[in-house]
Amino acid sequence: MRIAVVGKGGAGKSTIAGTVARIAARGGARVLALDSDLLPGLSFSLGSGPDPAVPPLQQAAQRDESGQWGWSPGIDAATAAQRFATDAPDGVRLLQRGKTGREGSGPITAASKAFWEVTHGLVDAPEFLDWTLIGDLPAGPHQISRDWAPYAETYVVVVLPTVQSALTARRVARLARLQSPQAQIVFVANRVGGERDLSHVERLVGEPIFAAIPADDGVAAAERIGVAPIDHVPDAPAIAAVHELAARLSEQPARS
Ligand SMILES: Nc1ncnc2c1ncn2[C@@H]1O[C@H](COP(=O)(O)OP(=O)(O)O)[C@@H](O)[C@H]1O
Ligand SMILES: [Mg+2]
Repeated sequence: MRIAVVGKGGAGKSTIAGTVARIAARGGARVLALDSDLLPGLSFSLGSGPDPAVPPLQQAAQRDESGQWGWSPGIDAATAAQRFATDAPDGVRLLQRGKTGREGSGPITAASKAFWEVTHGLVDAPEFLDWTLIGDLPAGPHQISRDWAPYAETYVVVVLPTVQSALTARRVARLARLQSPQAQIVFVANRVGGERDLSHVERLVGEPIFAAIPADDGVAAAERIGVAPIDHVPDAPAIAAVHELAARLSEQPARS
């Protein structure tokens, strides 16, 4: 499984990406979770603890005298992913671009450069050929069109039952198709209230919905106390639905 999770802010990207990662790892897959969002989210849904102030990946890249970015000595994409990913529960490995602090993304430029290179190097890296790759992308189209998830064989577009969210979903799906014509695009409706909500989303998006995840107070409660949803409410309906989603995603044929 090689997926990138995209969609509007607050749609549930991190909740879904983190939970799918945990489920895949429990199923025996070796999982690398790729967090390119400058805002927190994925480490919470994975249950991997607070984000570090300085991303470990910051050590992976450096500038030479002419100002050109390159790998630090002895590092390439695969070694960067191995060395600077951190442990999350169930054996998931988490690679983070890093989070913005008061000074914006400037202080993590090295990590940002390294992260982008890693995602490209991973496409064919022998070390990761049999790994499950799960990317949690920030809201909106920017990283899709700048090719931050070239490893994605499937783009998972998360959409809420609202007009705004559906508009964003259609837009990011269009960009993903342009950027990666060989990838498949699936729409996942999140926080769905019932059958009517689901057909509402389907109409708004104008394409079939691959999976639906119910609105679930348990997920919201997990967020309030800062525990991963899969740990706090493992039997909640939303988590059951993400199990089904993960199963369907892992059945999908790889790109030819
Ligand atoms: N199925 C759901 N039911 C209830 N709340 C949800 C559900 N999915 C996500 N949430 C809540 O919605 C908010 C946004 O989710 P998050 O995964 O952080 O979105 P994103 O990563 O797309 O910005 C969080 O507070 C999360 O707990
Ligand atoms: Mg998020």
